[in-house]
Amino acid sequence: MNWTIPLFKPEFGPDELEAVQRPLRQQWLTMGPITAELEDTFRRRTGAGEAIAVTNCTAALHLALLANGVGPGDEVIVPALTFVASANAARYCGAKVVFCDIVGAHDLTLDVRDVERKISPRTKAIVAVHYAGFPVDMCALMALATKHHVAVIEDCAHALFSQLEGRVLGTFGACGCFSFFSNKNMTCGEGGLVVTNHASIARKLRLLRSHGMTAMTLDRHEGHAWSYDCVETGWNFRIDEIRASLALAQLGKLDGFLARRGAVRRQYVDGLQGLPLQVPFADASARGVEGVGFHIMPVILPRGVRRQAIMEALRDEGIQSSIHYPPAHQFSAVPAAERVSLEQTEDIATRELTLPFFPSMSPDEVQRVCRVLGRALEACGAGQKAEGPST
Ligand SMILES: Cc1ncc(COP(=O)(O)O)c(C=O)c1O
Repeated sequence: MNWTIPLFKPEFGPDELEAVQRPLRQQWLTMGPITAELEDTFRRRTGAGEAIAVTNCTAALHLALLANGVGPGDEVIVPALTFVASANAARYCGAKVVFCDIVGAHDLTLDVRDVERKISPRTKAIVAVHYAGFPVDMCALMALATKHHVAVIEDCAHALFSQLEGRVLGTFGACGCFSFFSNKNMTCGEGGLVVTNHASIARKLRLLRSHGMTAMTLDRHEGHAWSYDCVETGWNFRIDEIRASLALAQLGKLDGFLARRGAVRRQYVDGLQGLPLQVPFADASARGVEGVGFHIMPVILPRGVRRQAIMEALRDEGIQSSIHYPPAHQFSAVPAAERVSLEQTEDIATRELTLPFFPSMSPDEVQRVCRVLGRALEACGAGQKAEGPST
């Protein structure tokens, strides 16, 4: 499809072109000085004690769960309104996924009260997904997790870098996991990173990232080691220097991207006023949320509107839209033992529509999306403003 307004649009310029050439000039392609620089910059940026770059956020979540002791027979609580990776990471460890519900149309993050209902003696970890960059109620979740001695792994794939009460998301739980996938707020195609404040967890993460090896190829190249031991059965979740360099270049521009994302979101909130739909997270600032790293632009359509008809109407005008998410507890591959019914998730998952959202989106483009969406809703007979909090 040739979209006139795509769902997302990464921004690359001379900095990124230069960045991908840097490792080639340095003649070192994996887990070298540029990866170390990315980790160091990320550590300073988040205020975390340690940062470990990996292949992608799925690997980051997998390693974070393993490093927190998750294994066969354990349960991991995961919201169902998320990308499937948040749940798969627990399954890779041999754990059972226990799906929990979200708060509702105004807050698409996990419902801490439902998490509390689902905690059992087997619960080892909770995956807290900061949907669209908006924080889970971390104060309530951390209190609950501490009471039950359960690790919180923050899935920050959408949250680069949101703050809650002066702290960057990813630094509240035992680990915070980030994604640099193509559609994320900064990207290197495929990439990820874990932050933690615990030196012992960081040590384990570094070992598991590369087959449990006590010395890397670079250590031997630089003459710091002759051989190595393998002290864990780990994986190859290493990142290469080309991606690390691209990620570093994007990280340098992230503040500018986030400021423009904030402006685009404000234009959307204005442009959507009066339409019969709800815009989630309108009350975020009242909850102490600062500097949201806005990632996607979800809206909740009124009940009875056929979402695909709206998506088709947008498509006919060259506007791409999407769904975040087909709920993770209803996929065909979900084991019988993980099947549950989740009232809010199942309602919202049929009505959520994600609009185009990227830093270089112009006010005219935002207005066009709002206009076409308004006409499509009218054509579907949804003339009235939705009940409940809208924007
Ligand atoms: C909420 C969430 N978690 C995890 C992931 C997995 O990230 P990656 O593609 O870097 O493995 C994604 C990616 O889209 C995501 O959106």
